[in-house]
Amino acid sequence: MAYRFYFFCSLSLLLLTHSLSNSQSNQFCEAGIGYGEVGCGLSSSTKLLIKGGTVVNAHHQEVADVYVEDGIIVAVKPDLKVTDDVKVIDATGKFVMPGGIDPHTHLAMEFMGTETIDDFFSGQAAALAGGTTMHIDFVIPVNGSLIAGLESYEEKAKKSCMDYGFHMAITKFDDSVSRDMEIMVKEKGINSFKFFLAYKGSLMVNDELLLEGLKQCKSLGALAMVHAENGDAVFEGQKRMIQLGITGPEGHALSRPPLLEGEATARAIRLAGFVNTPLYVVHVMSIDAMEEIAKARKSGQRVVGEPVVSGLVLDDSGLWDSDFATASKFVMSPPIRAAGHNKVLQGALSNGVLQLVGTDHCVFNSTQKAFGIDDFRKIPNGVNGIEERMHLVWDTMVESGQISVNDFVRVTSTECARIFNIYPRKGAIITGSDADIIILNPNSSFEINAQSHHSRTDTNVYEGRRGKL
Ligand code: URP
Ligand code: ZN
Ligand code: ZN
Repeated sequence: MAYRFYFFCSLSLLLLTHSLSNSQSNQFCEAGIGYGEVGCGLSSSTKLLIKGGTVVNAHHQEVADVYVEDGIIVAVKPDLKVTDDVKVIDATGKFVMPGGIDPHTHLAMEFMGTETIDDFFSGQAAALAGGTTMHIDFVIPVNGSLIAGLESYEEKAKKSCMDYGFHMAITKFDDSVSRDMEIMVKEKGINSFKFFLAYKGSLMVNDELLLEGLKQCKSLGALAMVHAENGDAVFEGQKRMIQLGITGPEGHALSRPPLLEGEATARAIRLAGFVNTPLYVVHVMSIDAMEEIAKARKSGQRVVGEPVVSGLVLDDSGLWDSDFATASKFVMSPPIRAAGHNKVLQGALSNGVLQLVGTDHCVFNSTQKAFGIDDFRKIPNGVNGIEERMHLVWDTMVESGQISVNDFVRVTSTECARIFNIYPRKGAIITGSDADIIILNPNSSFEINAQSHHSRTDTNVYEGRRGKL
């Protein structure tokens, strides 16, 4: 296999809590065994020296050597001397950075009558090939039960070859869910809960439920996350499209315009403000949503905005392709917006209105996408990105001068580690941190395509874009 980044990841345990809360809870999610070259290929007794690279953290960079023992960074200093049993890698002229952390993935997720084609092995192999060494996935409750949902995801995650954490979706609310949320936080270490304001009839929650959930998050010191689109209005928009005879993938975008994302973002922010609890808005795809976040943050409200790589680098033109297979691969929610939204989101990432970049990696192959050949409402929603995120943030944001190399580390790794309280064990190259390390050669280049990517899906929405080896 051809690897784009060198990477080294620890097989260590993961403590997952989040720093926007007072929670003391913890979660140990053990990565599986190493999978040769694909996974954490270094045995825990490996001694390693990465020599002469530019070591980049979110706030500092210096030319230095990084010495690693047993999966932990032991020293970061110029000109370290080591014994003969130490493997040495020359990183001269390259950037040595913390591995990426993807805050938003869906591996082995049952959704829209099918299951994502990447499971916890193939999705993580793709992540590692692209320089991401940890991800946080969303547990979906089973018939509303959080406990059953967690058991199911623990089973799925047995295939893991890298460190991971869990958020949990809340799809209904009653006394038992309220109790189970407490168990998740106090015993299972899951303390970020996602509320879907869209997907009417399946995952969607109404305002009453959202309010109850926000109150419970506040009392537990947990972090509330929202998928912000007005699901009732989307449902109405979809009916309108079908009545107009618009059944193709373009109907997906037309039925759920930015207005509906802006409305739901504003509503969730106001309700979180009313309850006085922090809010994390996932996959911010439009100027409308971003402006609501900017306004709230300016007023001092604790709101985090997560753009995803598709929203930052793509526009909706693909959805209008006359070939269904091509157009349907771009169907995700909220939709990829018209050109212009992406540039403004890039600006918001560079000026700090948006803080960290996820992927919402949720892939279906072309056979699965074809479920919606006669009706866009049946096209499984989701695009790839777990393997491409680091490359595309570098290409779009660093190469263009919109952010610095330090900012790159911050938005792809450190900020996520801080928000979910795993910093500085993750998200930093400092003594004592896990040796989740990538080496990037700024002078290299390769083309992204579906033939050479590591995901199981047969298409790639970033076909033809460029990355660094
Ligand atoms: O289209 C998407 N985003 N699929 C994954 C589920 C979600 O909304 O995050
Ligand atoms: Zn979502
Ligand atoms: Zn998602």
